[in-house]
Amino acid sequence: MKTVCFGLQWGDEGKGKVTTYLSKEYDYVVRYSGGSNAGHTVEYGDFKLVHHLVPSFDVRKGVKGYISNGVVVDLNVIDKEIEELKRIGFDISSKLNISAFAHVVLPVHKILDEKMELVKGDKAVGTTKRGIGPTYADRVHRIGIRLADFEDKYLLAEKFSTINKIYKELYDIEWNNYNSVIEQYDRISKLIISPLEMKKDLENSNVLFEGTQGVLLDVDMGTYPYVTGTFCNTTGVESGLGYKINLDKRIGIFKAYITRVGEGPFPTELFGDEGEILRQAGKEFGATTGRPRRCGWLDLPLLKYAIEISGCDEMIMTKADVLAGMEKIKVGVRYAINGKKIEMPYNLSKIDKAQVEYAEFKGWNSLEDKEFQKFVEFIESETGVKITYISTGAKVDQVLT
Ligand code: IMP
Repeated sequence: MKTVCFGLQWGDEGKGKVTTYLSKEYDYVVRYSGGSNAGHTVEYGDFKLVHHLVPSFDVRKGVKGYISNGVVVDLNVIDKEIEELKRIGFDISSKLNISAFAHVVLPVHKILDEKMELVKGDKAVGTTKRGIGPTYADRVHRIGIRLADFEDKYLLAEKFSTINKIYKELYDIEWNNYNSVIEQYDRISKLIISPLEMKKDLENSNVLFEGTQGVLLDVDMGTYPYVTGTFCNTTGVESGLGYKINLDKRIGIFKAYITRVGEGPFPTELFGDEGEILRQAGKEFGATTGRPRRCGWLDLPLLKYAIEISGCDEMIMTKADVLAGMEKIKVGVRYAINGKKIEMPYNLSKIDKAQVEYAEFKGWNSLEDKEFQKFVEFIESETGVKITYISTGAKVDQVLT
């Protein structure tokens, strides 16, 4: 069985918790895109983990993890995550592998990320400043460093020196503390595996692919340019592995409302007190940067778009419990521009001009209430996709099936 579990919104849908919950049915959880910009929070009850690079597999069970070529790896972050897990009693060193073709996030990438945002001024994307975009860009510039490059220290030194020259010449950024990166590599080197070796292991196993961010942040199909640097859509599974994978199931995760961090269009955004109530109720603060997330009502046109381009077979709804106790719940159902009803514009960036028509629902006090059932049925009938699980709280096992 090969399944992908991915975000249908702008990230922060609760993928970490859901992936961990589902992982017990699988042999491997595989990260296929993104980097330490992701922050997947998992509440186990007596302890809590925030995964930035380690895949969200249930650390209490025998599931293994794999970080594929599509992920950009900050060696310091992964080393710290593994150490932290060891400290609380989970030694995952025999349960985790990383593709030798994964690119490494270097200090220069983080400096450039920050500098680029500053230069863009009011056009800044609002990145996490984790060096994600510049690392992917250097992969395409063909000056990136892959984990495999660390095997030959002489060639590695040449590559470092090329990067150094380019960054100095083009961006006035200087960096030559190569040893710190080499030391970090040495600490995790035993986890590195060739992509073909890993392919064999995955072929005969049950694999759960874990998406990062969400379809609306996909570098091509998202709200460009307010997106991340990679393919968060389900299409990222194959490009992230580098070979053909036949997926049996695509499970899309969405929140009963919607949030985004950083800049970019957001048609159903709530401002002032309304936004603040949702932010506090849902503890909507970034797991990676701590930034307050922008909050708004569920946006059906965007949800339908994300379903369409991802091939989503079934959905899991999270955080409906956060809305409990509210008198009225709204759902954005249609867009209009200049008073004219529109389908989703092919260029998603144009949704910044959309006025939203809303459907209104009576609030619920508990997820057992018939008002909540009506809300679920409405979303299923509008999207044509079944909601198979409902997450009822932050802890891993709080799920309605
Ligand atoms: P970057 O991925 O750091 O380049 O940031 C690009 C955009 O994606 C920014 O709006 C970030 O806030 C957003 N972003 C990146 N990672 C996540 C995530 O894990 N959750 C939500 N938003 C994210």
